[in-house]
Amino acid sequence: MNMVPMHAHEYYLDQVNSLTRIPSLPLIASELMQVTSDDNLSVNQILPVIEKDPPLAMKVLRIANSAYYGLHRKVESLRHALVIIGMQELSDLSLGFSVIKTLSDAEDNFGLEWDNLWEHSAAVGHIGQMLQENLGIQTNSSPYALGLLHDVGKIILHRLEPVKYIEVVQYALANGISTHEAENHVLGIDHMTVGAWVADKWQLPVSIHDAIKYHHEPNHIQDPENRISTALVQLANIVANLRSISFGKNFQRSILNEESGWQILQQVSLKIAEMDFERFIMSIDDEVETIKEMVHLLGGHKQ
Ligand SMILES: [Fe+2]
Repeated sequence: MNMVPMHAHEYYLDQVNSLTRIPSLPLIASELMQVTSDDNLSVNQILPVIEKDPPLAMKVLRIANSAYYGLHRKVESLRHALVIIGMQELSDLSLGFSVIKTLSDAEDNFGLEWDNLWEHSAAVGHIGQMLQENLGIQTNSSPYALGLLHDVGKIILHRLEPVKYIEVVQYALANGISTHEAENHVLGIDHMTVGAWVADKWQLPVSIHDAIKYHHEPNHIQDPENRISTALVQLANIVANLRSISFGKNFQRSILNEESGWQILQQVSLKIAEMDFERFIMSIDDEVETIKEMVHLLGGHKQ
């Protein structure tokens, strides 16, 4: 076992801030953030930014056409997508895709298979979106985008410490503990902390920063809007994990009841108490193909 580096926080913060270790976001990302920070934002400002990047525009359209936006008509244009999903969500999604592209382009394999992480992230985004619709909750930011990005800190940690990160994964498996516990044990830092530093460095919106930092403890978020959207991510994360370990009949509703995300959502939606989560989780089986298709589009699969 490697020794935890002394002053791990200072060490990793330094690494994150070094220009060579973490790639910069493409220009389109800063343009998107610039136009959306303008209160008088108009459609005519945001569309040209996204249209400049056809693969990005295609991903946005694909999302807008997904069944969970409850549409029966095909979304043919970005302008139509914008009407359906709204300006902020459109911007969040575009930003999310752009962050993931930057990271996956820069990622070397170093012996770890990232497909699972991208698949998990796409699943959390998708399930977060489904949860939002089932519970009838309004959020400012896109649960899909937040789900896509919640674990970016893992990619960053792996990038900074490729060899030790394999040890993290093995340590978590061998001891039956969560990844962030193993990260703290092996590296002295976790993916939420490092991911939030990168979000700061890239000046991502606070809603995205909060989801990255607090997706395991949304009750620590001050802003009520961001607390709700991260609560969706927390529960979606748990649901995705429950599904992937095929819990079958042993599903314990109490597992979800005890989560802070559940309590946060309970305050804004009465539907959560009535929701049949067992059935909801089963229904995710019908979504697997859509999720896999999204992973492919994300470019997480190295061909
Ligand atoms: Fe996480």
